[in-house]
Amino acid sequence: ILSSALDTLHGRFLLVLLLGGPRGLLLCALDGRIFINNEWHESISGKTFPTYNPSTLEKICDVQEGDKPDVDKAVEAARAAFQRGSPWRQMDVLSRGRLLHKLADLIERDRVTLATLETMDTGKPFLQAYFIDLEGCIKTLRYYAGWADKIQGRTIPVDENFVCFTRHEPMGVCGAITPWNFPLLMLVWKMAPALCCGNTLVIKPAEQTPLTSLYMGSLIKEVGFPPGVVNIVPGYGPTAGAAISTHHNIDKIAFTGSTKVGKLIKEAASKSNLKRVTLELGGKNPCIVCADADLDLAVECAHQGVFFNQGQCCTAASRVFVEEQIYPEFVKRSVEYAKKRLVGDPFDARTEQGPQIDQKQFDKILELIESGKKEGAKLECGGLAIEDRGLFIKPTVFSEVTDNMRIAKEEIFGPVQPIMKFKSIDEVIKRANSTEYGLTAAVFTKNLDRALTLASALQSGTVWINCYNALYAQAPFGGFKMSGNGRELGEYALAEYTEVKTVTIKLSQKNH
Ligand code: NAI
Ligand code: MG
Repeated sequence: ILSSALDTLHGRFLLVLLLGGPRGLLLCALDGRIFINNEWHESISGKTFPTYNPSTLEKICDVQEGDKPDVDKAVEAARAAFQRGSPWRQMDVLSRGRLLHKLADLIERDRVTLATLETMDTGKPFLQAYFIDLEGCIKTLRYYAGWADKIQGRTIPVDENFVCFTRHEPMGVCGAITPWNFPLLMLVWKMAPALCCGNTLVIKPAEQTPLTSLYMGSLIKEVGFPPGVVNIVPGYGPTAGAAISTHHNIDKIAFTGSTKVGKLIKEAASKSNLKRVTLELGGKNPCIVCADADLDLAVECAHQGVFFNQGQCCTAASRVFVEEQIYPEFVKRSVEYAKKRLVGDPFDARTEQGPQIDQKQFDKILELIESGKKEGAKLECGGLAIEDRGLFIKPTVFSEVTDNMRIAKEEIFGPVQPIMKFKSIDEVIKRANSTEYGLTAAVFTKNLDRALTLASALQSGTVWINCYNALYAQAPFGGFKMSGNGRELGEYALAEYTEVKTVTIKLSQKNH
């Protein structure tokens, strides 16, 4: 990892690599700057902020702290790059697709470096970063590269004296505000469709995890995107983030994060210029296991569904409903899985679970675990932090959970599996739907009729049957209810990055 990181960093950051730490971890001191117009800038205020490695609690490096003036500068660059006659607007659409393919090529080339940076900045297991996050980035870029020359309007019959057609035009300058759980992947989910439709971008990565997004800046430049097409301003939410959501010269904003901030962003958009908004927010996702299910499959999927990425997933299977006949066996097997889960150094290939992202999330999870104990759920295993090791939490399983408990209602975003019991399909549909969220749901059954009844009755943007977290660049992803607005991925996302223009022409020759 070390030599590959040295080979590929090309002095992109001021780099000091040290081998050290109690478990031989790679420590990396980097200098992250603001990326505007394909150039690296200091923050206008002169301020910086630190980013940490959550598995060692050591500072990785300081990053330039963007704020409103930096966002203004980035928006100006993005607007200029979008002007009529600019190299980006004049580029033929096939070349636009080629740039996205080339970006995917460079991510493939630098995959070890990017996975290393992502692991250091988030604490997620290296192999997960390499095989899941980076794989998703590459596939998403290639998928949208193929769309660049296929975005078409329609001709619309009106009456014979008129010709009417539509153009699907880029929206303009798009803002993207991304979270810390899948920093690079959530960026690519926004960047790839935005660029394939011909927009320009101003991106603010989460303050906990800015490094891979900044590295992306160097790749954008190397690929040869015209200056100003992609701009990246690291900084905090209420400053740099709010400067994007309130900006009068940004046409659209795409956000992934908390429901609370999602509401603020929509409000800011309506108070400024009614910019288009897509939101991917929280979830309290039901995972329904019927008595006839393949039990091995259901137990494993429910386990991975909630514990994957330290439980820090908007898709987390954080309400498991199990039919009463198999409830004791399901709980027993789930506890065996949780007890076996290996928690530790994310650079160790055997590690399945790293630390939580920061103290705030760590405290929130432990507080919710305490509430579960107090409200009468049965703690089957875990329930504590791993002492002497910073932000690590033991995989936790609760049985005898009832719907009124906080652990059954609130998004935990941690390694905690609440398991409930149900008796009938009608009952479980009602209970699964009685939440303000509606992101994903999963169903385990071999009965086709039950599977399809549940698939149509569950109020969520995605329903998985006999699988979990099966996400594809080709298939849309997004939420019902308070889990969000709009869709990412697939052909559906193109509509979120284009405006439809109707052109109507009157013919002067009269038809007699
Ligand atoms: P957050 O919503 O504050 O952070 C997400 C992004 O929003 C970050 O880039 C942040 O800087 C930005 N942001 C924060 N305040 C903003 C503002 N006023 N205007 C514009 N941008 C702003 O989420 P946080 O505090 O990190 O986590 C809180 C909870 O949110 C988690 O416990 C989890 O339940 C949920 N969450 C959900 C995610 C998802 O994938 N849907 C991802 C991250 C968090
Ligand atoms: Mg970090």
